[in-house]
Amino acid sequence: MSSSQSLKIGIVGFGTFGQFLANTMIKQGHTLTATSRSDYSKLCLQMGIRFFRDITSFLDADMDVILLCTSISSLSEVVGSMPLNCLKRPTLFVDVLSVKEHPKNLLLRVLREESDILCTHPMFGKVSGKSGWQNLTFMYEKVRIRDEVTCSKFLQIFASEGCKMVEMSCEEHDKAAAKSQFITHTIGRALAEMDVKPTPIDTKGFQALVQLKEPVMGCSFDLYSGLFMHNRFARQELENLEHALHKVKEMLVQRMNEGQSPERTES
Ligand SMILES: NC(=O)c1ccc[n+]([C@@H]2O[C@H](COP(=O)([O-])OP(=O)(O)OC[C@H]3O[C@@H](n4cnc5c(N)ncnc54)[C@H](OP(=O)(O)O)[C@@H]3O)[C@@H](O)[C@H]2O)c1
Repeated sequence: MSSSQSLKIGIVGFGTFGQFLANTMIKQGHTLTATSRSDYSKLCLQMGIRFFRDITSFLDADMDVILLCTSISSLSEVVGSMPLNCLKRPTLFVDVLSVKEHPKNLLLRVLREESDILCTHPMFGKVSGKSGWQNLTFMYEKVRIRDEVTCSKFLQIFASEGCKMVEMSCEEHDKAAAKSQFITHTIGRALAEMDVKPTPIDTKGFQALVQLKEPVMGCSFDLYSGLFMHNRFARQELENLEHALHKVKEMLVQRMNEGQSPERTES
């Protein structure tokens, strides 16, 4: 990558997902710094990343982008504890939280006018993205962008890996994600609760259900609960799921009560 394309990116929250993104960003030639609640200085040393335990020194480093990779539930506390007046110049703030209205509203409220805001959600993780990001979806909303050059260089990180780039509002994202991602995680967790395992006579459909468990259970409970607590559309979808399950059960009970038990039907 030419030096004019490379960015100085500071990652806040160097857990599973922060590290996952960092690997590709380093491979692409960007310069990374990081800070986190836990001490990742050894890992960062191995990866060639400057790690700051102290948030003020982190903000003091000269960065083009501050990439927020903290858990959904800790974002307010983490951003609230940043002495933002230490920033030396206008900076692009990007978040990758799996809910979108919450970070958008928070960042608009706390960041100064000169800070740009890009809200994003890479719709993949270390399991689905382990063999590359080709054809995986990357959602974003340019919430407040004045420096289009820095913003498009950042988006290029994902576009150049072959991601399907989807621009949509944070509200639209949360509506769709409550129906799709939240329901997927909920069913995956319910299957894990039932301890579903492969059997010697698995159908393809059942194999798909068993496979659903791995990526879902690989995500922290913080992440899953955040999908519910910080997405105003999630409660309704959970109710729809409960209602649907109840309705399906009712249909079976009704059939039994009509005297047509499965043993007596032909197919
Ligand atoms: N995992 C995925 O596949 C995926 C995909 C797309 C988007 N995301 C988003 O990426 C973000 C990170 O996800 P994740 O998978 O790494 O797991 P997570 O459990 O959602 O977040 C872990 C990160 O949050 C930090 N954190 C947690 N509680 C904190 C607190 N009270 N104060 C300060 N920092 C705190 C952790 O810091 P320490 O490690 O220093 O303790 C770690 O960096 C989330 O917002 C998630 O929605 C994840």
